[in-house]
Amino acid sequence: MDKTESVKQFPDGFFWGAATASYQVEGYNENCDWALAARQGKVPQAGRLADHYHRFEEDFDIAKELGHNAHRFSVEWGRIEPRDGVFDEVEIEHYREVLRALKKRKITPFITLWHFTLPLWLSEKGGCEHKDFPKLFARYCAKVVEALGDLCEYYSTINEPNVYATHCYLYGTWPPFKRASIFGIKVGKEDGTSERTGSRASFWNILAYYRVVDRLARAHNLAYDAIKEVKPDANVSVVKHVHAFDHNGKVFNKLRAWVMTCFQTYFYMDKVRQKLDMIGLNYYRHTKYGDTQSYLLTDMGWNINPAGIYGALKILSRYKLPIVVAEAGIADRSDRFRADYIRIQVAAMHKALEEGVDVRGHMYWSLMDNYEWALGTEKCFGLVEIDYQTLKRTIRPSAHYYKKIIQKNAILE
Ligand code: BGC
Repeated sequence: MDKTESVKQFPDGFFWGAATASYQVEGYNENCDWALAARQGKVPQAGRLADHYHRFEEDFDIAKELGHNAHRFSVEWGRIEPRDGVFDEVEIEHYREVLRALKKRKITPFITLWHFTLPLWLSEKGGCEHKDFPKLFARYCAKVVEALGDLCEYYSTINEPNVYATHCYLYGTWPPFKRASIFGIKVGKEDGTSERTGSRASFWNILAYYRVVDRLARAHNLAYDAIKEVKPDANVSVVKHVHAFDHNGKVFNKLRAWVMTCFQTYFYMDKVRQKLDMIGLNYYRHTKYGDTQSYLLTDMGWNINPAGIYGALKILSRYKLPIVVAEAGIADRSDRFRADYIRIQVAAMHKALEEGVDVRGHMYWSLMDNYEWALGTEKCFGLVEIDYQTLKRTIRPSAHYYKKIIQKNAILE
């Protein structure tokens, strides 16, 4: 080995894999608010997508071939509870099949109980704004964990509460399309999707935003207790998107970074910190106030800064809990940047680990190309490319690079 090279070894049992979410890959999920919005022309049609619902065995063969030992996926609330309080045993059996398929391949499952899409009956009642939302959510979570508990140990209640509330109640780009404004100025930048949704901006939606964030905290806390009742040994987490805010040392920029971190991360996490066994971190974005550096951009138009995950891990480390990176990835159709993105990110994660942050795993987003919400299927985050006409799966070269890291359980720099 060259003297300048160093090996960054990860602990035994470190989880390596990729993540997906039901609405983004399964296909034909018609009983939810997103499907209704698509029928109304407010968001792109999803349709068959990668047809993961029927092809999960094939997809898990690929994950296995790529060396993954863990896999994060979500179960679809509208499939499992199609009507208020009515649970569909056939759909539950489907997810038991999915879990068995993972077990057979020695891939540890991480289930997300709710990843953005609401069953129609619940969205018609007012969704997260309904006063009973926390109770209804806890009932659903307990039912799922009771039914799947013998096949899975790890459960995340909610995926990215703040991102959800921001898109739904501040930007108005996701159902129920409520947009906020302050003194007549609309919140959020125009990305072309808000016109399609026909949302009308109002100051009151700022209050709706706070109400929803608060309900999502209560929903998590109630669900935590409900899950523990049916499966005391379940490992329960929330998946938090952390936008890593940094500064150039100037007092004003320090203050801005702190305020934004409080608003986007601590505000929610402080409400749920007593009811967590672990934290899932989703990392995509980094902002350094006073930064003069320029960055390459992902296909989403986001700065490419994989090392920023270090800051996000440090932000969450104040809760003194194990952390699993539940999502981190890049939209890069050409696959030009992905391998480097992964290498730099894994090295940054190792640095946090060396400094005592209890990182337990890394799930790349995403195993395969998928439906990127209001932006449709154009953005390609996948380790595996999907041809939506033929459903052919093609492994991208960067996936093989990730496999090398996984096989060594280390990164060679
Ligand atoms: C979400 C995913 C999404 C990804 C990329 C995360 O915020 O959990 O559903 O596809 O970011 O935008």
